[in-house]
Amino acid sequence: MEQPSSSKPARRIRYQGTHPKSFKEKYKELQPEKYAEDVVKILQKGATPAGMHRSICVDEILEFLQIIPGQTGLDATLGYGGHCMEMLKKLSPGGKLYAIDVDPLELPKTRERLATLGFGEDVLVIQKMNFSDIHLITQQAGALDFVLADLGVSSMQIDNPERGFSFKTDGPLDLRLNPKSGKPASAFLKSLSQKKLQNLLEENADEPYAGIISKAIVARISKKLPVETTGQLKDIIKETLVVVPKEERLETIKKSSQRCFQALRIEVNNEFDVLEKFLEKLPDALSSGGRVAILSFHSGEDRRVKKYFQHYFREGIFSEIATEPIRPSSKEIYDNPRARSTKMRWGVKA
Ligand SMILES: C[S@@+](CC[C@H](N)C(=O)[O-])C[C@H]1O[C@@H](n2cnc3c(N)ncnc32)[C@H](O)[C@@H]1O
Repeated sequence: MEQPSSSKPARRIRYQGTHPKSFKEKYKELQPEKYAEDVVKILQKGATPAGMHRSICVDEILEFLQIIPGQTGLDATLGYGGHCMEMLKKLSPGGKLYAIDVDPLELPKTRERLATLGFGEDVLVIQKMNFSDIHLITQQAGALDFVLADLGVSSMQIDNPERGFSFKTDGPLDLRLNPKSGKPASAFLKSLSQKKLQNLLEENADEPYAGIISKAIVARISKKLPVETTGQLKDIIKETLVVVPKEERLETIKKSSQRCFQALRIEVNNEFDVLEKFLEKLPDALSSGGRVAILSFHSGEDRRVKKYFQHYFREGIFSEIATEPIRPSSKEIYDNPRARSTKMRWGVKA
């Protein structure tokens, strides 16, 4: 007779209803190796599984970069490593890819995932670094044949409520790409005057209700009421926008919340400054004929990339640049709605 096993099987996480809703409950998605079929089904539905990121414009990037075996390149925004893996396939044999990211939480996971897939230190050098320090890479690698930067945040960062990037789920109002350095958005908000906050919402995200939203946030903080969570910030925006006609209100709250979170994220991570430093250092980092592709997700990023590329072209530093940005195909946007605002610009060093 079969003996009962003494070690009980681990019980799965319980959730209410038929589908897991919170990030932590999505245990199948968070273990893609173990539940590959479920992950495929989620991807087919046009959703991004928890803890994963769908790389955007992969074909367009590879077509432009024209990577050949033996080259040396940089993935300036490693993220989940999707673009990185595709570039590595083109590089071998003999090539080397440097890959960096500022996120100390996701980077080790990506390193392990790529190592498991067979991309070891001989072909792939991963470092935690801000792309504004791109000169440190060329000190190690020499001039680069190609550079890719896929700006902004990954789906792993957005979807994890602990990171505080999304107003859709409640979590600490953090918004740092590197939570081990600097101040979370909640602390940063406390240091701002109303005027400064209004300017920031207008300049970083063109928020049309920046005046009344900034007044409501600062009034709440000055009454010592908490603005510590993503939900609390979303509620302030929602309460402030009762002035919007009822039929437009829900959509306006959603759009304004997106813009306010984006504006804060840009500020907390100093995103425009580091992008400009990266763009300033790019020509020195590239070899002659070297290629760079940059994916941006909002007008503040795209404007800066366009301005620098046009300047380099006028000065003869770049021999060719994109006259119009490349956009993801309508099929890609349908399959992955997070791709809808993407613009890809490219340049070739003279
Ligand atoms: C859109 S994701 C990249 C996804 C990646 N291309 C893929 O295929 O998985 C953007 C990544 O860039 C990182 N990042 C943002 N700003 C950065 C910076 N200044 N320096 C280095 N990494 C940065 C973020 O932490 C995030 O992991």
